[in-house]
Amino acid sequence: MATDMALSGKSIVSMADLSADHIRQVLSTAAMMKEISEREVKKAPTLRGRTVINFFAEPSTRTRTSFEIAGKRLSADVINISASGSSLSKGETLKDMAANLQAMKPDLMVVRSPHSGVPHLLSNWMACPVINAGDGRHEHPTQALLDLMTIHERREDLEGLKVTILGDILNSRVARSNMIGMARLGMEVTACGPATMLPTNIGQMVAHHTTDVAEAVRGADVVMALRIQKERLEGCKFPNLREYSRYFGLTAAHMKHASPQAIVLHPGPINQGVEISPDVVEGPWSVILNQVTNGVAVRMAALYLLLGGAQPEA
Ligand code: CP
Repeated sequence: MATDMALSGKSIVSMADLSADHIRQVLSTAAMMKEISEREVKKAPTLRGRTVINFFAEPSTRTRTSFEIAGKRLSADVINISASGSSLSKGETLKDMAANLQAMKPDLMVVRSPHSGVPHLLSNWMACPVINAGDGRHEHPTQALLDLMTIHERREDLEGLKVTILGDILNSRVARSNMIGMARLGMEVTACGPATMLPTNIGQMVAHHTTDVAEAVRGADVVMALRIQKERLEGCKFPNLREYSRYFGLTAAHMKHASPQAIVLHPGPINQGVEISPDVVEGPWSVILNQVTNGVAVRMAALYLLLGGAQPEA
């Protein structure tokens, strides 16, 4: 595996930081990395001697765990910091925190924050690459990459695929990153949700948009149901969970009108029975746990490519 000089040393704050070729390179590298996770001894010495700091200032199960596993499977030294366990809780500024962490010479920093723009600031203040692991309503680029990998495993040719992104698009960093990445790869995206949950500039972000779920899902190759972002609903016109579920929840009845080979994605965590019904989560369309598996592979690929690692040993 040749080192990709184009990505080596870069930060990934937004999917806009990645060209179509970069995305394809991450996906092909992730497919190779996935094999390491299937070995009895799930470890390669590729990033031995490299230090990765995971700074998570917001709860996470999938992203935090998979970044830690990814670093450890590639033999990096992985250090986890939370906001409450850091000196931010004693009043230290983000900029001072960055200067102090930088003084310890990390090789890469992974950042999740409830505030949009924090990974961008840290990428300016740190000397090492920064990966955005989800910032406020802004972006979650490695989630989009693992979603694209999961779709690509089912469909060789991504160009022209019809994708429906359904739900709380306004508050979703997952939707924003996917819309950028999918546009880069020539996929045809329809956004669907309540009018109050569609950004005012949605027409510039996707090919189609609608408030009618049946219309949005008809003929779709991929349906991505989004979590209702309960923690980000303040100021957003939202009826109640029962009404939302009735009009915008994805059901098996909807999926019968999708393409015969259609797949369903959800970034997790799922509000069961709200944005998606249990028979879809557990139905033949669901690749939701494949997404989680691919999260480790994509994050191994991102660490490897950004750190310009050597070829993984067999
Ligand atoms: N998809 C995702 O970001 O999940 P976590 O919040 O559990 O990391």
